[in-house]
Amino acid sequence: MTSRTRPRRSCLAVPGSSQKFIDKARTLNSDQIFLDLEDACAPLAKPGARKTIVEALNEGGWGEKIRVVRVNDWTTEWTYRDVTEVVEGAGANLDAIMLPKVQTAEQVVALDLLLTQIEKTMGYEVGRIGIEAQIENALGLTNVNAIATASPRVETIIFGPADFMASINMKSLVVGEQPPGYDVGDAYHHILMSILMAARAHDKQAIDGPFLQIRDVDAYRRVAGRSAALGFDGKWVLHPGQIDAANETFSPLQRDYDHAENILDAYEYFTSEAGGKKGSAMIGDEMIDEASRKMALVISGKGRAAGMERTDKWTPPES
Ligand code: GLV
Ligand code: MG
Repeated sequence: MTSRTRPRRSCLAVPGSSQKFIDKARTLNSDQIFLDLEDACAPLAKPGARKTIVEALNEGGWGEKIRVVRVNDWTTEWTYRDVTEVVEGAGANLDAIMLPKVQTAEQVVALDLLLTQIEKTMGYEVGRIGIEAQIENALGLTNVNAIATASPRVETIIFGPADFMASINMKSLVVGEQPPGYDVGDAYHHILMSILMAARAHDKQAIDGPFLQIRDVDAYRRVAGRSAALGFDGKWVLHPGQIDAANETFSPLQRDYDHAENILDAYEYFTSEAGGKKGSAMIGDEMIDEASRKMALVISGKGRAAGMERTDKWTPPES
């Protein structure tokens, strides 16, 4: 599996300037890590962090984790050096570059072109390194479909709630919670759905961003549960204590996984010659048809990717 299709239930943010956090991150069970050169890295620490990141990637020890580096956005003076130093130095040990505050498709194209140049110069496979696009402002959201299709390298579309809330002047300082005064629904629904629709329309992963109250794991589960319920593939984790919550929330429940596998088996049987070539059939008290199979495929795909095993198996009725 390439990083385009591997699970990203938990995406751990690691400051690129902290050797201590980098060493700790290797031992944790997140699906992805991203070594950060952007907001978790002070401006004066960025040049040193590029070197620390290159060493950390080349040293290895990351197991099956997807290895990503977040560079600074194109409106800064740091982006090209972030990309050239990190990819020239450790491109063979890197799965994707995360580009924050993406506003237009052209910004993705610019990164794609730069990556291609580096891959050719260094003799790497051209096109292997993916792009993760963070949507963090109104312009980015209005262009999200063009951003998703700007390059075949794009693997994920990520919601960046903190920057997004600031950029639209939302009257709240608490990421993930509803802004005080807005009592008629979920203030993030439109944003999350727009990102999810772009991701699903173009076969990308949809990733929810950080939750900053790192000691309140119940609140993390609540917020993560909302985007997981909509169909998101994963969420950022800022602290080891959030990882299990993310891995569980973005995996199916055991009973749903078993049920999905059973629907697939039952549907295959009933549509076969032996099962009577039926277009719809009953499994227990439930009627299933082709649409049920498609829904079951989603749940079973997530469960299989997460390494789940069946605890219950449907058997065809005695004839
Ligand atoms: C993440 O980058 C955010 O702004 O929420
Ligand atoms: Mg941000």
